[in-house]
Amino acid sequence: MNINFTTATFRDFENIPDYNIAQRAEIFYEFLEYMKSNGHMNYRLKNTTGTNSVVSVDIENQNKEYVSFVSSDYLGFTQHPKVKQAAIEGIEKYGTGTGATPLIGGYFDYHNRLEKKISSFFGRTEDEAVVFTTGYTANSASLQCLMQKEDLAILDMAVHASMYEGCAFTNKKTFPHNNLEALEHILRTSENLYRTKLVIIDGVYSQDGDTSYVNEIYDLVKKYNAFLMVDDVHGVGILGETGRGTLEEANLLDKIDIITGTFSKTFGSLGGYVIADKKIAALLRFQSRQQIFSATAPPSSAGIIKAIDLIDEEPVWREKLWSNINYFKKGLDDLGLDTGITRSAIIPVKIGDPHVTGDVGRLLIDRNIYTNPILYPAVARKDARIRMSVMARHEKEHLDKTLNAFEDINKKLHIAKK
Ligand SMILES: Cc1ncc(COP(=O)(O)O)c(C=O)c1O
Repeated sequence: MNINFTTATFRDFENIPDYNIAQRAEIFYEFLEYMKSNGHMNYRLKNTTGTNSVVSVDIENQNKEYVSFVSSDYLGFTQHPKVKQAAIEGIEKYGTGTGATPLIGGYFDYHNRLEKKISSFFGRTEDEAVVFTTGYTANSASLQCLMQKEDLAILDMAVHASMYEGCAFTNKKTFPHNNLEALEHILRTSENLYRTKLVIIDGVYSQDGDTSYVNEIYDLVKKYNAFLMVDDVHGVGILGETGRGTLEEANLLDKIDIITGTFSKTFGSLGGYVIADKKIAALLRFQSRQQIFSATAPPSSAGIIKAIDLIDEEPVWREKLWSNINYFKKGLDDLGLDTGITRSAIIPVKIGDPHVTGDVGRLLIDRNIYTNPILYPAVARKDARIRMSVMARHEKEHLDKTLNAFEDINKKLHIAKK
């Protein structure tokens, strides 16, 4: 088996025919060394200061400051004094961990307060919310619980990996991103063939930063007697008049069968949640494997309760974020760069070629700007890009420094749209 390192991505090493674990690990190790030698290895870099608009990163034992675009802490709440204080108080009161799964002793009163808080944030009741230990398991463990071999999951191709994982043991069909005709075709042709048909979409898509056609999809779901699940982790706190996300924009907050989300992005901590009818929520509490077999979120989660309050108490962070998003996107567009169809805090600069994208990532690092080059399989092979997350904490000087760097890189590598 010959793998061409110049065009390879991590995906090519996931399963190599005839290679046992040791052989696969060996060739992958060589690939990592190759990436390092090209300066393309800006993955798993050591952050030494925490999430912020400027962070210190240790690259090969050199600790330097970088303007950072790698964090989904969009509103900057990981560093908000009130959120930190609430997390500290949680630890003071309960200690550092829970020592048990929710079912057998790990469900504490702060988990219950969190369920009350997040459900009322969405205008729902406490018994309609279930918290999970990560956003990933809110998706994967819920789906594994709800969807069995007699059911059908219908996924927008661009949904998050956690959704795909949750559908490992059920029937699965995918439709091209936001393609309503293809979705309707699947719904029509699978009528009466499955017990449950569940359409699965994201509110904001994590690589392009664009949004779903949720109103149209909702109508189709009702027409064909299916259910709808929406993961809005990149929309909540950012979109919607009061920051309730894409479902607030669409006026559908009280109509979606299953809403999922995370506490690791806008809410500055760790954990996930599912909002659903109280009977579906009860099913998840007692039947989802995360709830039965994996420990609950630690007492620092008390900080999340404060973070949720701050969405209403301090809208200034959302305003600052939007002013940064608009300024930065316009700057990139004015340089002729391709930012696609984003309408969120996720701004891609689409380049196409994975190798050139790696070079852009390295040149940005050389200018003390930390971004994520995104390659296949996160996006299609020819759709590599630099993906940036804008934060409320970015200052104009951070954005200008980055725009200047892109201008210079474009002169060298010609990455602007033709
Ligand atoms: C769309 C989407 N859903 C779910 C998740 C998982 O959330 P978490 O990282 O909090 O587990 C992510 C994380 O990156 C995501 O982008």
